[in-house]
Amino acid sequence: TPRVFSGIQPSGGLTLGNYLGAITKFTDWQNRGTHQTVFCMVDLHAITVPQAPETLRHNTRELCAGFLASGIDPERSILINQSQVPEHAQLAWIFNCVARMGWMGRMTQWKDKSGKNAEAASLGLFAYPALMAADILIYHATHVPVGEDQKQHIELTRDIAAKFNHDYGVDFFPMTEPVIEGAATRIMSLKDGTKKMSKSDPVEASRINLTDDADAIAKKIKKAKTDPDPLPGTVEGLEGRPDARNLVNIYAALSESSVADVLAANDGKMFGYFKQDLADLAVTKLAPVSSEMARLMQDPAEIDRILARGAERAREITVPILERTYDIVGMVR
Ligand code: TYM
Repeated sequence: TPRVFSGIQPSGGLTLGNYLGAITKFTDWQNRGTHQTVFCMVDLHAITVPQAPETLRHNTRELCAGFLASGIDPERSILINQSQVPEHAQLAWIFNCVARMGWMGRMTQWKDKSGKNAEAASLGLFAYPALMAADILIYHATHVPVGEDQKQHIELTRDIAAKFNHDYGVDFFPMTEPVIEGAATRIMSLKDGTKKMSKSDPVEASRINLTDDADAIAKKIKKAKTDPDPLPGTVEGLEGRPDARNLVNIYAALSESSVADVLAANDGKMFGYFKQDLADLAVTKLAPVSSEMARLMQDPAEIDRILARGAERAREITVPILERTYDIVGMVR
């Protein structure tokens, strides 16, 4: 069966960007039923920057609750925590020896995150994309739904697969396609339409968290940055208006319609009114998710059981693929 894989870091709360850019796409793939779907909390990726142990444990369970509350069904999809399926890290080591330093050094996320002081960054942060390639290829997954910011990492995954196949003279790892579609591939900060909405932004009002209550969601949207002009009737009218474009994108994604249709229906409306509509829509869509997450978090033992079962199912796939990889590389088994 063809397979879809994707992951999210438990490095903080889930944002509206994660929800619209990733999780809603995951449930679409699951419900379409054309592919086997594997979704992962990537705790090993999270520790490439410091994480307090209790916080990491809490965030991993809360992320799992977020997946479940959003409609990921642990029977229909395989839902796992990365460190519970050790073959991810084992394959990552092989890929560390396939990938080149130069490739890693060109990753924009590495450059952004290591900043001016790369000497002080962890080795794990540098090697991060090789672990990500292992996440995907340990399942021989071909389709990876992600937001725009992960595109370069998926391209690197193809480079790693191609070099492995070439170096060992095999046709073993498949070429992976990033799936980056719809109005929500890059949700921006509510306070700066040129900056990505991010869980690590120090400004709380810049993002909507999946754990925000109805009141907080409405307040943040009403205080979102906009320009003084009304909504344009067509997509071209959003040119050079990043804050306006972002709110329209969010509306389109939440209402599962196109940007063009949202604009056609709101031509000439003032943003004060549009933000009111958007706040109502966001509360209607997100409040049930957030209350279901809170309910699930009351029973962390059940979440742990779901993840243990997920890991068991995942390993039926990952153990044989790792064995074949070791065999190709020449490890005595
Ligand atoms: P992470 O945890 O930063 O983000 C998880 C997913 O959410 C998407 N996303 C967004 N989409 C739209 N607008 C935004 N503002 C926004 N912010 C985040 C991301 O593109 C991503 O799809 N390296 C990955 C995790 C990972 C992974 C993988 C993904 C590890 N292994 C294998 C796919 C396949 C990351 O840090 O995502």
